[in-house]
Amino acid sequence: MKNWKTLSLATAIVGGMTTAAIAADLIGEGVPHQNPGLAIEKELNTNFFTQLAASDGKCYVDRIRDEWKAAGKPKVKGWAEDVTDDEAEAAYRCVFNKIASIYAKSDEDGAKEYGGWKRYNTGAYTSGTHGGRFVNSYANAAASNYGKFEEFGTMPVGSVLVKDSFGVNKRGEVRIGPLFTMVKMEKGFNEASADWNYVLITPKGQTRGATAGPNAKKVNFCIKCHEAAAEWDQMFFMPEEYRVQ
Ligand code: HEC
Repeated sequence: MKNWKTLSLATAIVGGMTTAAIAADLIGEGVPHQNPGLAIEKELNTNFFTQLAASDGKCYVDRIRDEWKAAGKPKVKGWAEDVTDDEAEAAYRCVFNKIASIYAKSDEDGAKEYGGWKRYNTGAYTSGTHGGRFVNSYANAAASNYGKFEEFGTMPVGSVLVKDSFGVNKRGEVRIGPLFTMVKMEKGFNEASADWNYVLITPKGQTRGATAGPNAKKVNFCIKCHEAAAEWDQMFFMPEEYRVQ
């Protein structure tokens, strides 16, 4: 796939790759910014993936949980790195109602409805370079050409793309991540974002930032990365092996 490098790089970043690698790789991609790493670095350092302090409705990956218990419940940090595709998908099915109900506290487009939309990935997926955090991609009816984004060109006004996320920590607990959305606005809304409204909703259901306000600055880093996909209306889609056919 011709955007594979960008895609795998950026997937890794969404999954939590190191900030130095982000900056280096983005520069390598020739993104036209003086220092594209900066805003992204600041944003990722807040580690919004782990904002939800509590667990999530008691979903576990039993194998990891059992191994951790068998080891005497040691103090462990960070995400499990050996979650299989099947375990990730089972974890997602367990936690889905809970995460959907949390995002549903938000009034942003898609946050309440996306669970009823078409899911474009066959199973929860993450990047090869960083196991442990998972995402899923959904699109509304207006965006029904999302699956053909490489040929389709610009998405119509009213398109909503939604990506939910979760992690599995080294104790085998499933944790809720943020919700990422892109909403196609009227032409002229924002040139830099290709008229997409980028929105970040926290794992508590609050809007952390939106291109259409509030806190537009907090989601500038979304645009800085997504504009590497300018050729595809700022859409990256996902690794081919996870695409719904
Ligand atoms: C450093 C790169 C990077 C950053 C920063 C980033 N994304 Fe993405 N985004 C990607 C990649 C790569 C994909 C496709 C693979 C995936 O789903 O992880 C993607 C996919 C998406 C999708 C699904 C639509 C698509 O592009 O196919 C949405 C929605 C989205 N991102 C929203 C956001 C929002 C909102 C932010 C900021 C809060 C953000 N992204 C920040 C790289 C990034």
